[in-house]
Amino acid sequence: MKNISRRRFDCLVIGAGGGGLRAALQLAHGEAHVAVVSKVFPTRSHTVAAQGGINAALGNVLPDNWHWHMYDTVKGGDYLGDQDAIEYMCRAASQLVIELEHYGVPFTRLENGRIYQRAFGGQSQNFGGEQAMRTCPAADRTGHAMLHTLYQQNLKARTHFFDEFFVIDLLMDKDGYALGALVLEIETGEPLIIEAKTTLIATGGAARLYRTTTNALINTGDGMAMALRAGVPLQDMEFVQFHPTGIAGIGILISEGVRGEGGYLINSAGERFMERYAPHAKDLASRDVVSRAIYQEVHEGRGCGPKKDYVLLKLDHLGADLIKKRLPGIRELAMRFAHADPIEKPVPVSPTAHYTMGGIPTNRFAQVVAPVQTGPEEAIPGLYAVGECACVSVHGANRLGGNSLLDIIVFGRAAGNHMLEYIKENRHQRPLAQENIEHALERLTRWDKKGGSESVDQVNQDLRLVMEEHCGVFRTQEVLDAGIKKVTELQRRLEQATLRDHSKIFNTARIEAFETENLMDIALATVYSAAARQESRGAHSRLDYPERDDIRWLKHTLYSRAGNKLDYKPVRMKPMTVESFPPKKRVY
Ligand code: FUM
Repeated sequence: MKNISRRRFDCLVIGAGGGGLRAALQLAHGEAHVAVVSKVFPTRSHTVAAQGGINAALGNVLPDNWHWHMYDTVKGGDYLGDQDAIEYMCRAASQLVIELEHYGVPFTRLENGRIYQRAFGGQSQNFGGEQAMRTCPAADRTGHAMLHTLYQQNLKARTHFFDEFFVIDLLMDKDGYALGALVLEIETGEPLIIEAKTTLIATGGAARLYRTTTNALINTGDGMAMALRAGVPLQDMEFVQFHPTGIAGIGILISEGVRGEGGYLINSAGERFMERYAPHAKDLASRDVVSRAIYQEVHEGRGCGPKKDYVLLKLDHLGADLIKKRLPGIRELAMRFAHADPIEKPVPVSPTAHYTMGGIPTNRFAQVVAPVQTGPEEAIPGLYAVGECACVSVHGANRLGGNSLLDIIVFGRAAGNHMLEYIKENRHQRPLAQENIEHALERLTRWDKKGGSESVDQVNQDLRLVMEEHCGVFRTQEVLDAGIKKVTELQRRLEQATLRDHSKIFNTARIEAFETENLMDIALATVYSAAARQESRGAHSRLDYPERDDIRWLKHTLYSRAGNKLDYKPVRMKPMTVESFPPKKRVY
């Protein structure tokens, strides 16, 4: 350890997406000495890919209020969300969107100068009534605008950035305190110890687990896997969102904003089929409902194209002006990747892995909470998580579009505030002993060995295919159990695998190996949790258990890495100040 350089900060933020940057900004404004570590240049973080907008009940286009937003979010999550956290998020939304506007996010405007709001799936007025318009966009590049704005604000606030550093592992002491992380500078391969009084994990989701996905190469569940290795269980990992409209065959996101602006789905007969599946909300039903409907159409032979394996998203009737003004990025993507100019013809689409509803369990202050041994859950001192890697849980079994950007802003800020309190009360850095770093050092050198003949890359590709085939939109016990066996076998193969071109190991190959290890842990968490949950709820759709079962399954899953153990904990049904929304039949 003597030879490894060290840096000390009050706060370490792992990940430079919207959640990490919003937290870092709060910390820097609170005069904390804060470091952000990111494996990519910050503005390449996956928040940049968020398209349609951020939800807040501003009521700029149609009447709205946070309580209706709360109802929609509880219902959208099929009643698995924790209602105190959902109330907190929906109440905070308007103020924090206005704050973003003041930071400089270039939101799309109405004629009167207010922020334009578009319709998104699962939104209603008056607790399930007419469609609401709640999503605030910056054209169809909202995440891009937010990420750049937050990055610039952080530069101004003098946040310290470690760009292109990969986190090998968290450092914890034997009393369970978070002490920072061991990181690797990707360009040089030099390790660095970053000590901090508090550590925030903000590393995003893990939808790279699937072959067809909207997610960037970087979304490999690194933070979730770090937490698992530190003994923290992952919550509700069986709930993976498949976005209905990825470009067919390649999965690139075509925003729900397209349907919000009046686009709709048709099958090979030209029929607007969502009218049959969701008579009221139609194409703006929640994502799980629309994705299942698309598969049903394809399964029953009404798919389009030579293999009849996709449907069409029609928006030419919206007119060139609207498409160019509000959906310019979508048009570009459709032309480039589907060879279809949506001004003239419909875009071929099918469901694509998009979002991890589960993650590291936290409370609404973003503190990581975990059962202590077999006792009650407690906050792990100094450890926080926020955004897609966390499970607070505001999205329950299915996230509503536009709520992910909101989640990262609301809980990023909450994390920053709580971390500031924490460092006020814990003024001194706890000592880091050799034994606290040993496991991370062991991981650091793991890929220096020469393994067998199979490449890590091959295992990675096979893993993504297995997950697609065994833990996709529709699931059965038989298919999931076979999935567990296959992922376990892939884990064994990974232990034997070798880096691409071992004669000259580039750090990028080494990083891909660490990422594949992370994905493997997340795959096991996902498939074990899914095989155990014998009901259908939100995005978890079991053909052999087609109904939601609130008597047996209105509870959160907790998966631990040691022994692939599953445990459960109650859903927090009690909001902070209002009546709870008890489970009822979920129809759109
Ligand atoms: O469809 C979209 O624009 C995606 C938004 C989201 O996932 O929240």
